[in-house]
This record gives sequence, structure tokens and C-alpha cells, in this order.
Amino acid sequence: MAFTIAIDGPAAAGKGTISKAVAAHYGFAHLDTGLLYRAVGARMLDGVEPTLAAQTLRAEDLEATNLRTHEVAQAASKVAAIPEVREALVDFQRAFARRQGGAVLDGRDIGTVICPEAEAKLFVTASAEVRAERRFKELQGKGSELSFEQVLAEVKERDARDAERASAPMKAAEDAVLIDTSELSIEAAIAAAIEEIEKRRHAD
Ligand code: DC
Repeated sequence: MAFTIAIDGPAAAGKGTISKAVAAHYGFAHLDTGLLYRAVGARMLDGVEPTLAAQTLRAEDLEATNLRTHEVAQAASKVAAIPEVREALVDFQRAFARRQGGAVLDGRDIGTVICPEAEAKLFVTASAEVRAERRFKELQGKGSELSFEQVLAEVKERDARDAERASAPMKAAEDAVLIDTSELSIEAAIAAAIEEIEKRRHAD
């Protein structure tokens, strides 16, 4: 049986944590689609033309160790605005989504563009301040010296770029359930996600 769960939303809203927990709960495979754009961004920083990088991306590239850096995140957000890059990554994501045994994909356009037929769709969000605070703490833990204001400015800049681009902008699908994690613990956010998915699993 193929059952696709699409989880979209901005950075640091808790999407990744929720997606991993949901995939573990159901025993589904999980694809963090941001890694695809990060891998292309990383190759662009190495001098490879982004569309070519996307067309020749290999599954192993998603395991590169430097994909979580700040520079790569910014590069990812830039290459993600290029329609040919997005197009080159569609088939891989759709094949992953329809694999037997079920799949969770998280990203920005899963419920809208990649898997409009997904059986369950969530849009996980939180205020820019809450997301910047989470990112700030995470970066501090890694020894970063960026100020909270700098992190907040970057969160807003990346949101604007992701939401305003012409090609597959970040937005909630009309039939997505909104989960705002600003005031939720991780456990409560995961429970809310599973509760909504359960409704979809028993819908038909
Ligand atoms: O979720 P993330 O921070 O790893 O995503 C990195 C960048 O990739 C982000 O700026 C938006 C973009 N992205 C996208 O455009 N579409 C997706 N499905 C996933 C990520």
C-alpha cells in the first residue's frame, strides 16, 4: 500500500522533527526534500551550474556532511528559485512518495506541486520570532556568534524568498491542516500531527 504524507512549512517550524517522528510512528520511509536543494546548493558553491547539478544529483549526495551549514542553506534557497532545478528534482520525489509501505516527504511544495494527491497534508508553521529563537539556540550550541537579530533577519529573508518566488512558492495546500507550533512542545506537536493523519487514514 502507498500512503503519502506531505508536510510543508517554513524553516525551523518543527517540520523535520515532526516528519521523522511521524515516519517512525507509521514505519514509513522519510525524505527531507530540503536536502535535495541543499545538495544542489552545495554543488553550486563548488562551481557547478545549478541546473546541471540538479540533473546529475545522486542519492549519495544527500549524505554529504556539509549540507546543514548556514552558507549551504542560503545557496539552497537561491537554487530552489530556479524552475529548471525544481523540474529536475520532481521525478525522484514522486517516485519516493509512491513507494510501497508509505512515505513522509517534508518540504515547501509537497502538498501543492509534488504530491497534490497525497492522502494526508500538513502545513507546520510558527511565528518568525519563535523560529529564529530555535535556530539561534541551535547555532549557539554549535559555537556560532551570530546575534538573535541577525538570525531573525535571515529567517525573514529566507521566508520571503521561499514564499515569493514564482516557481512553486511555499504555501499551504487548500486541503492541508495547519499546525502552529509556536506554543506547542515537541511532544504536543507530534501528537497533533498524528491525530490529524489518523483522521485521513480512516477517511475513506
Ligand atoms: O528545509 P530546508 O531548510 O532544508 O530547505 C532548504 C531550502 O530549500 C529552503 O530555502 C527552501 C528550499 N526548499 C524548497 O524550495 N522546496 C522544498 N520542497 C524543500 C526545500
